[in-house]
Amino acid sequence: MGGSNKSEVKLIDESGKRHDGRSPEDLRPIRMEVGVLNNANGSALVEFGRTRVIAAVYGPKEPPQKYVALPDRAILRVRYHMAPFSTEDRKSPAPSRREIELSKVIREALEPVVISELYPRAAIDVFVEVLQADGGTRTTGVTAASLALADAGIPMRALVGGVAVGKVEGVLVLDIDEVEDNLGEADMPVAAAPDINKVTLLQLNGVLTQEEFERGLEMALNAIKKIVEMEKETLRNKYSKVSLEEV
Ligand code: CDP
Repeated sequence: MGGSNKSEVKLIDESGKRHDGRSPEDLRPIRMEVGVLNNANGSALVEFGRTRVIAAVYGPKEPPQKYVALPDRAILRVRYHMAPFSTEDRKSPAPSRREIELSKVIREALEPVVISELYPRAAIDVFVEVLQADGGTRTTGVTAASLALADAGIPMRALVGGVAVGKVEGVLVLDIDEVEDNLGEADMPVAAAPDINKVTLLQLNGVLTQEEFERGLEMALNAIKKIVEMEKETLRNKYSKVSLEEV
């Protein structure tokens, strides 16, 4: 949510550091874990700083309502939801317009990588649950959902990762948090699948010059390469252990 810049909070100090001590091109500390839920086919927990999101995947399975099925591929259904305790002011548990929009945006960020043609008439359900929100929940949600889909064994063309770039006090900054989002001049969430060279989510709230847009996108895509490498490492850590135990 891009807001006004009239606050007293200093977002960039004299030495060019951000309010939490990061440099403009730094990501927040990232944590990823897969297989965190017993009762889903695949699951993942992803943290970017204080933003903490869990994703759960069910399927491929027969959709409960037959009329939603497609004859040539599986349908991907995504529900993005913020837990009532995820924000400073308790959020109503009822789905908001924002949550409905973000569910669609996250679905569209995942659809290009899911090989849904393998499962005609089936449904794949993805639940993205925001446990704690501190900016970047949609991009953290995409990252968690990508890991959960892989953990569920859903065939994918590539993994997807996401991060938001923002502009605060005239400076482009990577991986903005809630304060920077609220007080900054622009917020540009990006998701991409670097291994197939595809940008799958690109939004811009606020104003950037063309040059800032191009540099911001490059910052985001470079970071997403690192994020996707972390996803691969997380999956390797889990599944290489499993295969060793099975030998
Ligand atoms: O989370 P994301 O940056 O993808 O979406 P946003 O709509 O730009 O929201 C930015 C941040 O505002 C969220 O990450 C939350 O920290 C906060 N927010 C909130 O506290 N309560 C809401 N109902 C919506 C957003």
